[in-house]
Amino acid sequence: MKAVVSKAAWTGESLQESPLWGYALDGAEVAQLVDALRSFKNAGHDYRVIEAGEMQRSMFPLTGLSDLLESIRDELETGTGAVMLKNLPVDQFDDNDLAVIHSGISKHVGHIIQQAGGRVRSESRGHGKYIGRVVAEMSGTVPLNGKQANNRFLLHTDVCDAISLLCVKNDNGSVENGGSIVASALAIYNAMVAETPELVAELFKPVPRLWTVSKNLHCDIPVWKFYGEEMFTTQLTPVYTEVSQLLPHAPTISEKQVAAMNVLQEIGSRIGLKFSLEPGDCYFLNNHLAYHGRTGWDYTPTAPASRKLLRTWISPYNNRALPDEANYVDLWGSTSASVPRGRAHMSADDPETLKALDDCNKRVEELIHEGKYDYYDLYRDYDRFMSNIGRTVAVKADKA
Ligand SMILES: [Fe+2]
Repeated sequence: MKAVVSKAAWTGESLQESPLWGYALDGAEVAQLVDALRSFKNAGHDYRVIEAGEMQRSMFPLTGLSDLLESIRDELETGTGAVMLKNLPVDQFDDNDLAVIHSGISKHVGHIIQQAGGRVRSESRGHGKYIGRVVAEMSGTVPLNGKQANNRFLLHTDVCDAISLLCVKNDNGSVENGGSIVASALAIYNAMVAETPELVAELFKPVPRLWTVSKNLHCDIPVWKFYGEEMFTTQLTPVYTEVSQLLPHAPTISEKQVAAMNVLQEIGSRIGLKFSLEPGDCYFLNNHLAYHGRTGWDYTPTAPASRKLLRTWISPYNNRALPDEANYVDLWGSTSASVPRGRAHMSADDPETLKALDDCNKRVEELIHEGKYDYYDLYRDYDRFMSNIGRTVAVKADKA
């Protein structure tokens, strides 16, 4: 295994040198967004167009931003895979208008696809929807009963080509409280080749993950995959991988695979970028190249929306072809370049699959109530290791 040279292999430090990470929209660029929203409304459209997945680029014209939008698409697919815009006018509009603005920009980047939530299937987060809202609806380390919690997320990918998050609100936000982290998969790979080469091969072996449209509810693909001519894709889903171990037919994950995933998390949290989203920040991440995660945050039932993000799932118009293998088709629906994929192919939620998922969820919740399971139990050595070296991804104690 050799280290790779790629623009997509960045550290938190080098990402901040990218002109498209922290690109501050100026007054004229913000005015374009406001004009596009006005044009959308003047044509008689409203937020329901977004909910129906019927947003078209022509409904939200951004002619004056075409160069920037092209740069964003290029950066996502052939550059760092990470873009952060700042200064979106979140204080001027309500949530529905902001959803139109966020979807409008997203639609110029790619096809907006329906979102999925494998276990909890939270509709508020966006399961089955074209726009999601990331908020806390309960306190705890594990989301329950279809609700979102204020829990941390280890580094992971979402099952879509690209994700975009727009920060609407982040009261008392800091790196430790509702903080964000992004990390480059290829930079982690390079570091692991140098630091723990004996574990690298583990991440190229198939890893099961809960996947509700697959036979037996799991799909087994590697965390890392090189294919074609210098092509790469990653899929890292710590929770779905952990929950797959409760399914009757999923392969058992080896201790060495878990150790490799723990090292991946440790390196990612060390070399990735930790930051606190500010209202008006909007980032895009290519899930084939980069991971995202978050720290937990203080949750107050009387002010549940202290941290609020809008979320879109996007298949960029210039997205890559994926490995031409059955398990990738199973996961993505299509492995061809430049097509919408991900949740879009998941419309067949047959009763048998839903029952099996319900059984799995019931089992998870029973184990939680019996005190036998918590999120990330499978990776518990990661936390022990992190406490030895000084925790760089803070775990906020949840408060009732
Ligand atoms: Fe995510």
